[in-house]
Parts: sequence; C-alpha cells; structure tokens
Amino acid sequence: MLFVNTAQIVTCAGSPGPRRGSAMNDLEVLRDSAVVTRGDVIAAVGPRRQIAQQFPKAKQVDCGGGVLMPALVDSHTHAVFGAPRSAEHEMRALGLDYMEIARRGGGIHSSVRDVRERSENELVRLARARIRRLASFGVGTIEVKSGYGLTLEDELKLLRVIRKLSKELPVRLIPTFLGAHEIPLDHRDTAARRREYVDAVIHEMIPHVARQRLAVFADVFCETGVYTVSESREILRAARSAGLSLKLHADELTSSGGAELAAEVRVTSADHLAAISDKGIRALAASATVATLLPSTMLFLGNPSQAPARRMIEAGLPIALATDFNPGTSPTVSLPLVLTLGVSQLRLSAAESVVASTVNGAAAVGLAASVGQITPGYAADLALFEISDYRELPYWLGARICRALWTRGKACDVHDLDIT
Ligand code: NIG
Ligand code: FE
Repeated sequence: MLFVNTAQIVTCAGSPGPRRGSAMNDLEVLRDSAVVTRGDVIAAVGPRRQIAQQFPKAKQVDCGGGVLMPALVDSHTHAVFGAPRSAEHEMRALGLDYMEIARRGGGIHSSVRDVRERSENELVRLARARIRRLASFGVGTIEVKSGYGLTLEDELKLLRVIRKLSKELPVRLIPTFLGAHEIPLDHRDTAARRREYVDAVIHEMIPHVARQRLAVFADVFCETGVYTVSESREILRAARSAGLSLKLHADELTSSGGAELAAEVRVTSADHLAAISDKGIRALAASATVATLLPSTMLFLGNPSQAPARRMIEAGLPIALATDFNPGTSPTVSLPLVLTLGVSQLRLSAAESVVASTVNGAAAVGLAASVGQITPGYAADLALFEISDYRELPYWLGARICRALWTRGKACDVHDLDIT
C-alpha cells in the first residue's frame, strides 16, 4: 500500500532504543512524502514522486490531508476488570484518600472480589470492548496486566483473557503478570500469612505463568502499605529467573525506594514515579530503564503532585507516557488525553509527548526494534489523525481525532472499534 496526501508524516525514525535528553525531541516530520507498506512491514518512506515511481503497482491510500504517524503504544494498562468503581471516586472527593479506601477493603480489593466472581467469557466480553476503545484513539500496541485475581486460578484466568483477545483483536497485546498487585485481604492478618502469599507468587504463580507462556512481563506494586522493596526485589528476581521481563510500579504515592530498586534489578520500565526522590532519579539515569509516566492517574486521584518530568529528562531518563487504564485510578481509554496532560502538566514539548508514546512506549514493552517508528523493516502499524500539524495530537483536549489505524499492514475500522 502507498500512503499519499498527508499534511505531515511523522516517522520518529532513528536508533532502535529509548530516546533521552534532547533526543526526546527527535521526530522527523516529512512533507510531500509517502509511505509504502508490504505485507505487515514498512517497505519505504521518502519523497512522494520518487516513491510513486518506485512502487507503481502499490494500492494508493488517500490520507485526506491528515497527519500519519506510527500507531501509538500504550505501555501500561490494567484493562481486564469487571465493574467500574465510581463510588470511590466520589468518596475521595468527600475526603477519603486512595490508600485509606484500600485499608477499608475497597480499591483493588473490590475489583478482586468482582473478578473472582466472573467467568472467563464474561471478562473477555468486557475487556474486548474496552481494549477496542483504547485502540480507536490510534493505539496499535497495548500492554495489559493481570492483578485483579490474586489467586493462582484467578490470575491465570485473567492472563487467558488477554491471550484470547490477543489472538482475536487486530491490536498487539503485551501480557504482564501482576499477581503482586496487592496483598489479598485474607493474607493480611499476620506476617506469616503475608509471607505465604509472597511465596505463592514466587513458587506457584510465576512458574505456572512462565510454563504456560501467559505473560511477557512480571510487575509488582512496590509502595508503602503494599509490597515492600525487599518483597518486590524477591518477586522480580524470581520472575527473571523464570524467563520473564520486568516492570515495576514504583514511587507512585510515596517515595519508598522503588526507583532505586527498579535501577538495581534493571527492569525494562519503572512506572508512575510521581513521588520519585532525587536519589531515585540519579539511579534511573545511570540505568537503561524507561521511566513511564501516567499523569491521568494523579489527575483522576485529585493529587496535585505529578512526576518531575522536566528534571527527569534533564537527568537523561527516557520518558514514556501511558494511560494506566484501570477502574480505580485512571478510567480513561484515551492515550491522546494523556499526551495533553504530558504537555500541560508535565511540561513536555509536543514532540517529546509523541516520542514518549511511540518510540519510548515501544521501548517500555521491549519492542523498540520493531514498533514505534515509520522506518523500513518496522511493523506496518500506522495511525492517521485528522489534524494538519502533529502538535494538535496533544492539543485537542479529550477529542478522538484518529481517522484510521493499520496494524501489521491491515486496516482496522476505527469507528467500528469504538462502538463494539
Ligand atoms: O497503577 N497502583 C496500582 N495499580 C493501579 C491502580 C489499580 C486500582 O486501583 O485498581 C495503578 O494506579
Ligand atoms: Fe498501574
């Protein structure tokens, strides 16, 4: 296919790793240019006339004067869950905070009770509609975590839901095992009971997940009141030994040494970091880890603090942006809305917000060498936006401006994705 008639083609072409420092502004914006795909990969990018001569038989796709970009990457979601948690949203407005709600058995625990009661098919049906909606904003790759089961059977059930949808849906799903999302309520009364659960994650769940190849990544919610740094370290090490790649929920609400641990165990991506310390920034800067920021979470929680993104970029951390789509802290299916917050709240440039949700998002899921750029050899994952300048992607607050999406060279009907 030959993609023509664009106002701009934003290729994000460059080295196949996460971008840091001033390189976070490296987009490559082409005019009077065209893209050719062959099968599921990008075949060529270049001046329109030259490309048209070179590929006279390619089927033309008229981009209607829009902006063509690599399909976006949402590198952090908890998209498989049951009911929404709107009552908690109101409770926070009336003065309870997120951790207090969790201590009273709500929060993640309430989604866990709910998920345990639902069948795999029911969860497939709910997640299917939600993931399609995420994709309809121009997203071609979505990381999806388990974490609302917290028993071997229920965690495997959630991961099977992700596997089923990854075979059925046109978008690429990256499954993450998050059995260490909370300490289940019936394991909280004594240290021994708590230890039993950590042991179950390490000795039962991780081996099963790895053996059945149900996840690419393992993740832990390392936070004051949830998993300690030393428990998180043990779980991550066990997951790595089992062959899983690693992620970490780190320093989301309090500065508890999460970023330092992420750097120490060399996780692929350390996520949240709203409460990261200066020491944590230095530790991550000396590592290869991507810092994934989730500004819609702090916004939705009504928490005035956001990750110190500018200082992180100055220190040389590669920043990714993701939705954190989940029923408790970030019920948004719009990655472009997160880009808006990236600019307005984290003070990223528009170009940095695009790199953070393409090249660096791909790096956060270990796919920087094949996804997130319009470069020959990369996956033919393209998003067409109804705008005339890429700066409008983070500009149109809350709008769905994606006109078309192609994944692995195949067209997805964006409108259809949104309504089913
Ligand atoms: O990323 N922090 C832990 N996990 C989610 C929230 C999950 C929930 O509240 O259901 C997060 O914010
Ligand atoms: Fe999360």
